[in-house]
Amino acid sequence: MALLKSNKVLSCLGNITPSLGVLSARNSSWWGGVQMGPPDPILGVSEAFKRDTNPKKMNLGVGAYRDDQGKPFVLSCVRKAEALIAAKQLDKEYLPIGGLGDFSKACAQLALGADNEVLKSGRNITVQTISGTGSLRIGANFLSRFHGGPRDVYLPKPSWGNHTPIFRDAGMQLKAYRYYDPSTCGFDFSGALEDISKIPEQSVILLHACAHNPTGVDPRPEQWKEISDIVKKRNLLVFFDMAYQGFASGDIDRDAWAVRYFIEQGHNILLSQSFAKNMGLYGERVGGFTVVCKDNEEAKRVESQLKILIRPIYSNPPMNGARIATTILNTPDLRALWLEEVHGMANRIIKMREQLSAGLKKHGSSHNWQHVIDQIGMFCFTGLKPEQVERLTKEFSVYMTKDGRISMAGVSSGNVGYLAEAIHAVSK
Ligand code: LMR
Repeated sequence: MALLKSNKVLSCLGNITPSLGVLSARNSSWWGGVQMGPPDPILGVSEAFKRDTNPKKMNLGVGAYRDDQGKPFVLSCVRKAEALIAAKQLDKEYLPIGGLGDFSKACAQLALGADNEVLKSGRNITVQTISGTGSLRIGANFLSRFHGGPRDVYLPKPSWGNHTPIFRDAGMQLKAYRYYDPSTCGFDFSGALEDISKIPEQSVILLHACAHNPTGVDPRPEQWKEISDIVKKRNLLVFFDMAYQGFASGDIDRDAWAVRYFIEQGHNILLSQSFAKNMGLYGERVGGFTVVCKDNEEAKRVESQLKILIRPIYSNPPMNGARIATTILNTPDLRALWLEEVHGMANRIIKMREQLSAGLKKHGSSHNWQHVIDQIGMFCFTGLKPEQVERLTKEFSVYMTKDGRISMAGVSSGNVGYLAEAIHAVSK
């Protein structure tokens, strides 16, 4: 009892006048073995950009949309939805573990199409997640815990930089299939088919639904059909990542074509969605994770396990962004405004692609830059080598990822000329 008392006193005093014992415990290190890690390949670029004092600096690293003045863009539909929500004076209670029910419903409808048979028969489970990354991670954890097949996930080569750590940290093994052909800066269709046809049965294959990140290269519909056939023959489990719905073509339905086609062909897919880009809700972290099941009874069992997975990670997702997205999707005039704004963002990027390619020609570049125009979505996989990327950053303060990817969304009428000049200087 006496010992207990003195310990209590010591721990209280520890905060004010530490005894020698407490002091030495504070000075000793628990983390001597922790090594300095490298900066994140994508988000680390923004940190380096912030430190640069060159007034001409450009951040083409992270995929975040900017307006033509180079400023972060908050969509008008988002501002209007926020005003509607604020006027309702809603409470701030916890959401259920799977998030806002109306959001999940609208999110699945957006991806699959409102009349999809899967939704009508209730054989999907969709939960609200912490944007696309959170969705992929919940999916990866679910696979790790419940997928009976091989623990291998096949990613396109290359894929979004965060895919590898997401699946690896969830205990899955990473494999790759050919996707990008550097000689054409386009899709390596025959390489992809050949590799996919050799994937061991029941493995997981990750497909980018549209606006492939980082290459901006998507299969055409007839190519998707062949991919679907071969995936079916190999009995592979498809995990679609759809982070850019609307950003590829400017049309949300067109961009969801591959997802809907695969479902029509009988693939019971996993699907990850993000509203970071298409609603500009980056920091609100709004996303969805869907499992298409055999029937409603299976969906209920999967739902119960998703809740068990989510609860010890973050209990339940944040509500603000989900309320905004739901209000936009479910209010006809806001939805119409949103579709217009998505179209506007996609079009501005297309214009920048044209101007960049024209600027390179104007500066006398003898390279073929057609891929700058042909690639779609937010990114352009320039084909620049790491040493050229390094020169762009060092000599011109143009920040981008080391693989030569630039976010076209960071290019504006005001800086496209400077970018063309800089790329030409390092590539001539
Ligand atoms: C990107 O690829 O730049 C975006 O998806 C943002 C991110 O989190 O990496």
